[in-house]
Amino acid sequence: MERIYIFTGKGGVGKTSVAAAHAIKSAEEGKKTLLVSTDMAHNLGDLFEIPIGKRPEAIMENLDAYEIDPEYVMEHDFNDMMLSLLKLLPQGSPRAMEGYGMLPGMEELFALLKINEIYQEGTYERIIVDCAPTGETLSLLKFPELLSWYMEKLFPVGKIAVRVLSPIARQLYKVELPSKAAMSDIEKLYLKLYHLQELLKNREATSIRLVTLPEKMVVEETKRNYMYMNLYNFNVDGLYINRILPEDIANPFFDEWLMIQRKYREQLQESFAAIPIYEIPWYDEELRGMKAVKRICKDALTEDGIFDGKIITQRECFEQNSKGYLMTVNLPFADKSGVDLYQSDSDIIIKINNFKRNIPLPNVLRTYRVTGAKMEGEILSIQFEKGDAAYE
Ligand SMILES: Nc1ncnc2c1ncn2[C@@H]1O[C@H](COP(=O)(O)OP(=O)(O)OP(=O)(O)O)[C@@H](O)[C@H]1O
Ligand SMILES: [Mg+2]
Repeated sequence: MERIYIFTGKGGVGKTSVAAAHAIKSAEEGKKTLLVSTDMAHNLGDLFEIPIGKRPEAIMENLDAYEIDPEYVMEHDFNDMMLSLLKLLPQGSPRAMEGYGMLPGMEELFALLKINEIYQEGTYERIIVDCAPTGETLSLLKFPELLSWYMEKLFPVGKIAVRVLSPIARQLYKVELPSKAAMSDIEKLYLKLYHLQELLKNREATSIRLVTLPEKMVVEETKRNYMYMNLYNFNVDGLYINRILPEDIANPFFDEWLMIQRKYREQLQESFAAIPIYEIPWYDEELRGMKAVKRICKDALTEDGIFDGKIITQRECFEQNSKGYLMTVNLPFADKSGVDLYQSDSDIIIKINNFKRNIPLPNVLRTYRVTGAKMEGEILSIQFEKGDAAYE
């Protein structure tokens, strides 16, 4: 098994087309490839102009395509786990989960679990994932971590937190301690979620690729997306600038557009200098059918190493220093004034606009508290010093 490539970006920028082009190229290189869509509004079938089923189906030599139907997957592959979890969550608790910024699409989570399962089976050398537009993809990618975090708080699961449900939490969420059988299902789901997030954040296994357009709004959105991807610890190692107008259009109508595109191409080249960038022309036709998609392969995916993963940023890390411990997190394009930090008894919480991440503190830091934080370039450093535990 080689790698998972996840294509994301704003609505309509060309994610499906670019993902499909990679899938074709990969198959042509002789690699056993799966092109899979987690977008509920599937369009691989439209793109290839053939119906695509509920299981992976061959569409050319070395290439299978698959539009995941999360409901089908939930019923057929993860039914027991789901039922156990739902039984444990009495009425009102989905609200409680929502309060934590969760449950944006519990169903789509099963699409990711399915991808993890396929990855573990090792049938494919490359799995290329066509995602829903940005916001949904972010929610989707951060969901396994959030849900396992939530489960750790509520149930005595996992190797990290072998805690018993506290009376307060029990009252708060009105949850009964699960029976043994249910617990074992819960634990199974927890472990799957845990492995899933490990896989998605593993720089040796997963590449996130951003698709963008050379226009102000889309560029800004791409930068934000990149920042959040870093906040949640995903490795972005490719940027695709789509729909680039040919320089030689002899029509003054496009003069202004050409200037705008030049400006934002330059800006993207500068801002994302560390990341491989691919430019895709604006075609005079809709990209439908194998032949049309292959134009992208021919025009933009000719360099060697397109499928090589590249480690661009490091995961957050804790290092001992003279004062105690220093935690560093990569947050490119983050505006210092928009970053908030909180510490709880077990987590450090980083909040940027509407996104927040709970990072569990290593045990050794439970008796330390945050004494300072600063943003230098792309790096947020948080100093921990030994002291009375902040919330005891
Ligand atoms: N470089 C291009 N030149 C011309 N047309 C393009 C180009 N890239 C994409 N398109 C067309 O733009 C439309 C949107 O592309 P695509 O479906 O790949 O985007 P998407 O990001 O997957 O959209 P969605 O967010 O709706 O899933 C399609 O009709 C596609 O054929
Ligand atoms: Mg699409």
